[in-house]
Amino acid sequence: MSAILQIENVTAGYSADIDILRGLSLNVRKSSVTGLVGLNGAGKSTVMKSIFGFLRPRVGRILFDEQDITHGRPHELASKGLWLIPQDGGLFDYMSVETNLRLPIETRRAVNGLSRAEIDRRVADVMEQFPILQEKRRQLATRLSGGQRKLLEFGIAHVQRPTLCLIDEPSIGLAPKVAEEVFAHISTLAKTGTSVLLVDHNIRKVIEVASYVYVLTLGTVSAEGESSVFQTDLHGQVKEWLGINY
Ligand SMILES: Nc1ncnc2c1ncn2[C@@H]1O[C@H](COP(=O)(O)OP(=O)(O)OP(=O)(O)O)[C@@H](O)[C@H]1O
Ligand SMILES: [Mg+2]
Repeated sequence: MSAILQIENVTAGYSADIDILRGLSLNVRKSSVTGLVGLNGAGKSTVMKSIFGFLRPRVGRILFDEQDITHGRPHELASKGLWLIPQDGGLFDYMSVETNLRLPIETRRAVNGLSRAEIDRRVADVMEQFPILQEKRRQLATRLSGGQRKLLEFGIAHVQRPTLCLIDEPSIGLAPKVAEEVFAHISTLAKTGTSVLLVDHNIRKVIEVASYVYVLTLGTVSAEGESSVFQTDLHGQVKEWLGINY
């Protein structure tokens, strides 16, 4: 299956003397969910930040649709069709729900060339898809519940219509029913043509929605495979991945 994103031998870190990602290579498949799992601190969010230009790899390269984006900046990458739903949230707390939906795309209008009518259409689409955002459109983001905030982040991603959406720990802190909705939504994204790189601590759900899964250990890929292979013996596989011998 062809790849929309290729990470080749990337080494990256937050300070000059410590590497967090160490010779990491992985591919994200086109129009499909690729999963990335690993222990706390393995470097999963660091992978996302390196792809989206918040962290510059010291070694290696990152290709998006065969184009080198290794040292791209977040706003440039957004205009090329990438988007990140970060683990720690990316909302403007003291702006309204509607402003949160509009701002990221409106501030890039000079680059993306979208008409105001097109932006209005996209925002209206999101409001229709997530009625709670329509209902709360004039409220400040800070007044939303955890689940509603997550829906708003997905709504913002929808407005961008990304080719590749990086989604970091979407189910963290959500009630099981809301988490189910979020995972269903991710499956729909992939079915409608968006490629997804998904990180989540719920390994079972990642394997369910992803077609291919990578395991990250201390900044490098320690196991990988078709998710169908992992589905049959998840417990044994997870123990093996994480080096648990009991
Ligand atoms: N801004 C930062 N400055 C310095 N070190 C950082 C920074 N962010 C993360 N790290 C370090 O990088 C390593 C990997 O962190 P990262 O957040 O990528 O892990 P993770 O796999 O996403 O973990 P979790 O499952 O807890 O979200 C950790 O040792 C962490 O302390
Ligand atoms: Mg993380």
